[in-house]
Amino acid sequence: MSTTVSRAHWTGLNVFLHWTIVVLIIGQWIEGEYMIAFWDGTLEGKALDQTTVLLGYSHIVLGTLVLAAAAVRLLDRFVNGRPPHPEGEPTWASTLAKVTHVLIYVVLLVMPVLGLAAWFTGNDDLAGYHTFFWNPLLALIGLHVVGALAQHFWFKTGALKRMLPGVRHAS
Ligand code: HEM
Ligand code: HEM
Repeated sequence: MSTTVSRAHWTGLNVFLHWTIVVLIIGQWIEGEYMIAFWDGTLEGKALDQTTVLLGYSHIVLGTLVLAAAAVRLLDRFVNGRPPHPEGEPTWASTLAKVTHVLIYVVLLVMPVLGLAAWFTGNDDLAGYHTFFWNPLLALIGLHVVGALAQHFWFKTGALKRMLPGVRHAS
């Protein structure tokens, strides 16, 4: 991932895409169980209730939006860079943050691609690989959130504030 730094702060687009992805992932969490029922029922040709069908299709739509949002975010990141990592955090913490961000992006791209591949081919193995990534994603997000809170409360940098909607901090 490019380490270009060409911005003093996150732009409105960065912040919008970040929090949009958060909301979409929460949606995927809620719908996950319905998608399993929808998938199994579709493969076995069973009749399904309306809620399962509706939430199953919305899992596909929201998951595809995650893919699109992560791709736009990454493209923007490569073209325009990101603000510098906050001063005042130790090197190990910014290295850990960088590695976590890269891994989150990898999973945010790989998971929906595997889900879509499973859906369009009807391949249950691909669906299994898709769901395999869910727990690692949750672990990465957990680490990321602990890191964001540590930035704010422990290292006392402005990292969390500058990612909040409506707040722009020159760093
Ligand atoms: C980043 C986006 C996505 C996330 C975070 C996500 C998350 C999940 C979760 C949490 C489950 C249930 C796993 C479990 O509880 O063990 C699931 C199941 C499933 N998802 Fe996704 N999903 C995403 C995108 C997609 C997309 C775009 C599709 C395309 C059709 C898709 C297809 C499926 C299928 C087929 C299952 C059922 C798999 C099975 O029963 O083995 N997902 N997904
Ligand atoms: C689904 C949950 C989340 C995902 C997938 C996610 C993903 C990401 C990614 C990939 C970045 C790196 C941006 C880049 O360099 O392009 C980032 C930055 C950031 N995230 Fe999250 N995030 C999530 C939840 C949260 C939450 C709940 C918080 C607050 C507690 C948060 C706070 C931040 C902050 C402060 C940054 C900027 C760090 C910096 O300036 O170096 N994130 N997030």
